[in-house]
Amino acid sequence: MTARAHWTNRLAFILAASGSAVGLGNIWKFPYITGTNGGGAFVLIYLVCIALVGIPIFIAELYIGQSSQKSVVESFEVLDRKNSPWKSIGWLGLAAAFLILSFYSVVGGWVLDFEYRSLIGEFTRETDDQISSTLGNLFGNPGRQLLWHFIFMAMTVSIVLRGVKEGLEKWNKILMPGLILMLVGLLVYSVQLDGFMQSLKYLFSFNTDALTPAGVLEAVGHSFFTLSLGMGAIITYGSYLQKREAIARTAIVVGLVDTAVALAAGVVIFAVVFTFGMEPGAGPSLMFKTLPMLFVKLPVGQIVAIIFFLLVSFAALTSSVSLLEVVVAYWEEKKKISRKVVTIVTGVIIYALGMLSALSTNVLSDFKIMGLTFFDLFDKATSQYFLPIGGLFIAMFFGWKLGPEAAKHALGGNRPGFSAGLMWSARLVAPIAVGIIIIYKIYMDFQ
Ligand code: PFF
Repeated sequence: MTARAHWTNRLAFILAASGSAVGLGNIWKFPYITGTNGGGAFVLIYLVCIALVGIPIFIAELYIGQSSQKSVVESFEVLDRKNSPWKSIGWLGLAAAFLILSFYSVVGGWVLDFEYRSLIGEFTRETDDQISSTLGNLFGNPGRQLLWHFIFMAMTVSIVLRGVKEGLEKWNKILMPGLILMLVGLLVYSVQLDGFMQSLKYLFSFNTDALTPAGVLEAVGHSFFTLSLGMGAIITYGSYLQKREAIARTAIVVGLVDTAVALAAGVVIFAVVFTFGMEPGAGPSLMFKTLPMLFVKLPVGQIVAIIFFLLVSFAALTSSVSLLEVVVAYWEEKKKISRKVVTIVTGVIIYALGMLSALSTNVLSDFKIMGLTFFDLFDKATSQYFLPIGGLFIAMFFGWKLGPEAAKHALGGNRPGFSAGLMWSARLVAPIAVGIIIIYKIYMDFQ
């Protein structure tokens, strides 16, 4: 058997883990769900969740992966015992990976489509009205969506095929710094837009008027989604870490990077929204309507648009590879099938599943389960059920089953204060808070 692959160094790992965390969740989803939930208070709850629940669970997942050196199902067997009931967390995680990647790839496809339109200069020739109906037109075109969905999935597969070092690590090293640089550039530019101050006020004024219980649930679910938690992506990435690496600091760095990118994307997008008098609550089309509108007004707007959508595609890809890796690592390890075969077969299955989401905006738009299209169902079921439930049990496994020794190792030595804090969160705060949220969510959905 060949030795398990490992990341070259700590930086490579930080880039890969941030690559998984930073994605469409930050640039596309965070701004639009902030908009549909009225801004400030939603952002505050999201930040609190990241700090109190997200980062501790991130540490727990990294520890589980690192100390077991196994993928998502088997890690629980190594750390507990054969046929441990905890390994159901792994099964849930695998299911979540299939569902999330299936619709994630469809949205990745929309981004590629916008990149293509930027390349051929389509936006520069259009009026504002035409620009803002571009996504709607794409929604109405099943063939075109399926094509881009296919291309996105093929790109994801081709990176994962190459393995941890040659595939994941190499690409993350190039794509992540590029994305951050571009975002900083846009942020600096947005400072002089008329809507900049209003954007800050909207995001950080913590007024609670517009917040509903459903909004609170969405903020909790999103904090899992955005950090790639609750389904074993971070367990899998942690399993490629050398055992001696301390992990808590890494978790905090990734949490900060992820949050900074989401907030920066929010500031830029809402600055454009308020400058051009657009609607903050536009929903999933928000990013696709606002930014092209800004780009066409810039002197070298076409180039900015090309770079921007390229980088969003990169951000999406560095996350989608981590989703696929969860499944591939499991099958490769467990069934001893070659990485090539597993990656392609899984890619094909997820592509097929994703067709349901791509067709949700056209052919299947009237087909609803519990009032939701496939796209919305997969999105909501994973963010608001699968990931929080997975996260809750991962926290309990870490807190109660592995206990203070694990915390000590994760923190890289004896740090009584931090260790107690981490145990507190993993044993009580995270399970109770997330547990209440899940029960409340079940009550709201099924009453
Ligand atoms: N964190 C990614 C994003 O914010 O776009 C999405 C994601 C990736 C969720 C990997 C879950 C996961 F395992």
